[in-house]
Amino acid sequence: MSRWLLAALALWAVSGGDSLPACNYPPRLLCSSWKIAVACQVEKLCPKFYHRPQAANPVSLSLYYESLCPGCRNFLVTQLFPTWVMLSDIMDITLVPYGNAQEKNVSGKWQFECQHGELECRGNMIETCLMYQLKDFDHSFPVIFCMESAGSVVENLEACLQVYAPTVHLAEINSCVTGDLGNKLMHRNAQLTDALNPPHNYVPWILVNGKHTDALQARAQTALFRMVCELYTGEKPDACEGGGLSPSAAEDRVSLN
Ligand SMILES: *[C@@H]1O[C@H](CO)[C@@H](O)[C@H](O)[C@H]1NC(C)=O
Repeated sequence: MSRWLLAALALWAVSGGDSLPACNYPPRLLCSSWKIAVACQVEKLCPKFYHRPQAANPVSLSLYYESLCPGCRNFLVTQLFPTWVMLSDIMDITLVPYGNAQEKNVSGKWQFECQHGELECRGNMIETCLMYQLKDFDHSFPVIFCMESAGSVVENLEACLQVYAPTVHLAEINSCVTGDLGNKLMHRNAQLTDALNPPHNYVPWILVNGKHTDALQARAQTALFRMVCELYTGEKPDACEGGGLSPSAAEDRVSLN
């Protein structure tokens, strides 16, 4: 008999039929359905329920930003990244580095002009290339976080790669940054940004489940973790329990309606 079944039996024996009237099932049926497992409080012991299927769509968060804007950096470093570390199972993040940049077509090649100058354009381009070349957001986001939290966003690329993506060569990223690939990818960011509806009129510009309102934006910027936990309609992950809702939290609840 397997260990989990022994443990389930033990738990079933101590909990007894009286204290848990809903659990009127013989041991062999305890893991036969999610409902029974929950009623008998053994769901964590049932192998097939231990890795719960994703019950609901992840909460999607899109950030339209530019690499050197202080408010963008602050949001990414103090809200978005820490929340993602805890809740990546229930959230989907899209980063679009472009913000208030402008583009123009100069004989078939796009030229970009950024609010905070040339360095910002380079930062936007590096981050765009990182997401494209590392493919998996789980790998690129820590590098982007590292750059954005450092003193100089652009100059820290190499050090951040060494720590968070040691197998990626700086030269690969640089060839994207200075080549046609980066140019095309940045044009795509421009198109995505220009297609925003309503159009963005400040940065960072945040969409929650595809939607932007001032209230969603304000909540995301001050209490993103709690917001993602609240908006997730599936079973809340354990991380959400720990945060707990303070009495005042009820007041700043945001609904998507
Ligand atoms: C950009 O400019 C070139 C010529 O300078 C033109 O052939 C091309 O169609 C333009 N592209 C766009 C998207 O406007």
